[in-house]
Amino acid sequence: MKNLISIFDLNYKDIWSIVSLAVRLKKGENVGKNLNGKSLGLIFEKPSTRTSVSFSVAIHQLGAFPLMLDAQNMQRKRGETIEDTAQTLSRYLDGVVIRAFRHEDVLEFAASSGIPTISGLTDLEHPCQILGDILTIVEKKNISAPAGLGRVKVAFIGDGNNVANSLLAACALMGINFSLAAPKGYEPNDEILKKSKQAAKQSGSQIVITSDPRKAVVDADVIYTDVWTSMGEESQYQKRLKVFKNYQVNSKLVEGAKKDCLIMHCLPAHRGEEITADVIDGEHSVIFDQAENRLHIQKAILLHLLG
Ligand code: CP
Ligand code: NVA
Repeated sequence: MKNLISIFDLNYKDIWSIVSLAVRLKKGENVGKNLNGKSLGLIFEKPSTRTSVSFSVAIHQLGAFPLMLDAQNMQRKRGETIEDTAQTLSRYLDGVVIRAFRHEDVLEFAASSGIPTISGLTDLEHPCQILGDILTIVEKKNISAPAGLGRVKVAFIGDGNNVANSLLAACALMGINFSLAAPKGYEPNDEILKKSKQAAKQSGSQIVITSDPRKAVVDADVIYTDVWTSMGEESQYQKRLKVFKNYQVNSKLVEGAKKDCLIMHCLPAHRGEEITADVIDGEHSVIFDQAENRLHIQKAILLHLLG
């Protein structure tokens, strides 16, 4: 495996191996691998705090050079094609992390560059986020073998967006039970749902898509949410506030899950919209550990692909 653009670029074994490597790295174990002397480019077409900083620091800590490219000032902005950009950059760089609007653009970059290409989020998926989230679940639920994931239920409440798509795919591959509550018309991507259902047959994961948040959280070990309006959808903000108003993660909804249920959010959050401030800052929340885990998982991802 060379690229990480979709969760489906990985299988059950790969995901467990990346997550367990991250657990060891987080504990400070010297895994005897590094990326000394390599140079990695970071191209962000959309804003980022966690992904850009955690990848830059991870690359630096592994002994490689992180080159943050300003997408606004690249010739691509003036019409240079992705193919030409990719072919050129591959002559200088050993790998690239790209956050793009179009998922197809990242696939095209990977195909034309031939160098390891990692998606830092597209309109369709956010794979690195979700690998970090599996690390958080493994850590917080004291899971020491992949079979342990089979006793976990994750409930995603809100928009069936990039984060929801990758979470659904990862849960299906890993045997994690998954329910998602979204308003009609805002369910996960059809193709990803189809592939996830196929994967779930193998892994034993139970997948439920509903429009009822209270139903989704019953017996949940994890409640996960994300913004109602993702980057690039700003013009739909007012409409989405109305569509999603019954999908807020608040203390009442949390009461419907297991007593020790974890609250997760990829961040950035809109406090008071998809999640209330008391839940973000409350006793069940692991949201900032989740953010920290981005750093540990990025190192494991980089070593898995380039080490
Ligand atoms: N969760 C996440 O990807 O955050 P950023 O948009 O800040 O990178
Ligand atoms: N769904 C959000 C995730 C941000 C990390 C977005 O795409 O804006």
